[in-house]
Amino acid sequence: MESASEQKNLAIFNLISELSGIINSSLSIGTVFRIMVSEIRKLIGYSRASLLLFNEKENNLLIFALDTEMNTIMKKGVKAPVKGTSAGWVITHNKPWINRNLDELTFPLDKKLHDEGIRSTISIPLVHDKILGVFNLDSTEPEQYSEKDLQVLLPVAKHISIALENALLFQEISREKKEWERTFDSITDMVWIEDSRQHVIRANHTLLKKVGLSAVEITGRKCDEIFARIGIAVREPACAVTITSKRQSFREMKGTGGSIFNFWAYPLTDEEGRLYAVVHYLKDVSSQKGLEQQLIRSDRLASLGTLVAGIAHEINNPLGIIAGYAEALLERSDNADLRSLPEFEDFPEYLQTIHNEIFRCKDILSSLLDFARPSSGTYREIDINELIKEVILLVNHRAKRLKHTIELRLNRDLPRIYADPGSLRQLFMNIIMNSMYYTPERGSIIIMTEMSTGIRGKKFLEDIPSITVLVSDTGAGIPADLVDKVFDPFFTTKPVGEGTGLGLSICHKIVEDHNGSINLVSEEGNGTTFDIQLPAQLRPNYGPSYDND
Ligand SMILES: Nc1ncnc2c1ncn2[C@@H]1O[C@H](COP(=O)(O)OP(=O)(O)OP(=O)(O)O)[C@@H](O)[C@H]1O
Ligand SMILES: [Mg+2]
Repeated sequence: MESASEQKNLAIFNLISELSGIINSSLSIGTVFRIMVSEIRKLIGYSRASLLLFNEKENNLLIFALDTEMNTIMKKGVKAPVKGTSAGWVITHNKPWINRNLDELTFPLDKKLHDEGIRSTISIPLVHDKILGVFNLDSTEPEQYSEKDLQVLLPVAKHISIALENALLFQEISREKKEWERTFDSITDMVWIEDSRQHVIRANHTLLKKVGLSAVEITGRKCDEIFARIGIAVREPACAVTITSKRQSFREMKGTGGSIFNFWAYPLTDEEGRLYAVVHYLKDVSSQKGLEQQLIRSDRLASLGTLVAGIAHEINNPLGIIAGYAEALLERSDNADLRSLPEFEDFPEYLQTIHNEIFRCKDILSSLLDFARPSSGTYREIDINELIKEVILLVNHRAKRLKHTIELRLNRDLPRIYADPGSLRQLFMNIIMNSMYYTPERGSIIIMTEMSTGIRGKKFLEDIPSITVLVSDTGAGIPADLVDKVFDPFFTTKPVGEGTGLGLSICHKIVEDHNGSINLVSEEGNGTTFDIQLPAQLRPNYGPSYDND
């Protein structure tokens, strides 16, 4: 026959081993508490079992779990003070406490327990590295608990402490994880992390949206695929430098449609300095870049304009005099006596060259002045389609000679625009002449007009109705490294003496005077498209400087 104490020991042993199992299998402290109290009930009687968590910051105790049939004011979530309670004493002294009979109070605030009908209690500290809380059993009977019960409750408390610690850590980690994820997702640029073999481990919301994949779908994909989906063609893996050097790297990348991205890669290394992942940060800077370029361009053109106006004016006068003398000398060189002199033989040809070159200089000067002079034209409401047709009439002859086809795709429902027709004729003339010049024979030039909204790069004109004119050719295209330069005054790839390189700078200026925007998309060998946006029915510059209605 087993003795009563042997039976009890066995029961304790069973309880403890069951508890260990629970702790390893579950992280929820509520579950651990429920199973545990149902086991304890078999060994020690109670009217109420409770688990209080110690909040060090607030210095109070929170009722975290409760098992009772009593209808008491002590409920889950209620806070109890440390000072003046037996549970508080247990916390501060890290020792169990037994209230044998609450008719005699040791701690004044235990009166609350007495008021609820509790007569005896036993409280055990829950400690794991630091004090976590208190486990209590309360009874409505006096003298229910003694030191003997500690034999059961102390080892039990140890196990609850471990479970409690796990649960609290888990809670903390989950909270931090969520916080981190929220931060990651709130970034409006694309961020993702790849392992050292360049497979995506994690991606933020912005990237997922851009590439059209879910978090699960993107996991494991290769770096190249992500770039391809964003529209960036990369020859070598973008973060290769970071992987080999284990250092942060930066690159500017070009995407489709002229977009520009800034790309950073940051290495993640373990304690031994081994690289295990790379953080990627990709920012679309197209509009910012475009704006910067436009500003630089306008600035450069504005200062050049003033300079040019002055110089052109000064040179024009002496040139006029030289031209006059050259002409006079040319006339005189017709003289038969002079022509018979062998020393005079080259004179007429030289004079003719001087004469021609002076007129070329004058032409250059007049286009310089065109560029520099503030728009002198008269602004009025115009139909852009009609204006384009007029320009085509002027260039048709040349197009025929070069065997180009010109196709017009004009939107008939366009609103009229308020503009200077003279300047706009010059604008489209320059652009179309360029398309024809830079396209080998039998090319095709398409001019399209359409409705649009806002003016690119001009925030203050964001919502206004606008029109867009696209001029595309099937020509040589502009090499990527020259795209930024074509609007610069005097930039030309024409042979020396053939072009001024002022055509596009003048276009830029005209567009700016009209509060519009001019951009281009070009691919070497695949043609160029100029994209001109002009505000519809809007007076230029909004300013009082234009009063010619
Ligand atoms: N449609 C186009 N296709 C290819 N390249 C172009 C095109 N339009 C312009 N370019 C490039 O831009 C440069 C500048 O053009 P811009 O019209 O300002 O000067 P230009 O044509 O060289 O000289 P100009 O207009 O005074 O005769 C050109 O030299 C050319 O390299
Ligand atoms: Mg030109």
